[in-house]
Amino acid sequence: MPVASLLLPYLPESVAAARRFVVAKLREWGRDDLVDDASVIVSELATNSIKTGCQTRMVVAVRRPTDRTVRILVGDGSRSMPVMIQAGPDATSGRGLAMVHRLTHGRWGVTALPFGKVVHADLAVSMPTSR
Ligand SMILES: Nc1ncnc2c1ncn2[C@@H]1O[C@H](COP(=O)(O)OP(=O)(O)OP(=O)(O)O)[C@@H](O)[C@H]1O
Ligand SMILES: [Mg+2]
Repeated sequence: MPVASLLLPYLPESVAAARRFVVAKLREWGRDDLVDDASVIVSELATNSIKTGCQTRMVVAVRRPTDRTVRILVGDGSRSMPVMIQAGPDATSGRGLAMVHRLTHGRWGVTALPFGKVVHADLAVSMPTSR
């Protein structure tokens, strides 16, 4: 299974680093079509992880669990769980996971681990139409 992962510090500049990493992998795998959605998703997930204020490193990974799926994962050392909120019209935050939910058609989730958790988000790979 193609897989790549990267450890990054909990610093604002890690958001751009996470994005560059995921974009580079997708291009390497010939999935340029997923670059825009994946960039938004990894940016939102990495920003959330940075906001936990954890120490050590967060892990950013991208995988192809099946031919039809690209999975983006961001793990951090906080055992608090992500909660999708319904941001009101005047709210200045609370839209990140709703965007992830929309872009993945609900195919995202979280796995609790002894030392924290991993949030994953799946993008569907479109197959070339046969003729
Ligand atoms: N990695 C995480 N660890 C702990 N809590 C999280 C994590 N990701 C999200 N959450 C919780 O879920 C809430 C909703 O996340 P979401 O990304 O939708 O909104 P936000 O980060 O508060 O605002 P925005 O993304 O719009 O700037 C967060 O406020 C936080 O309480
Ligand atoms: Mg957020």
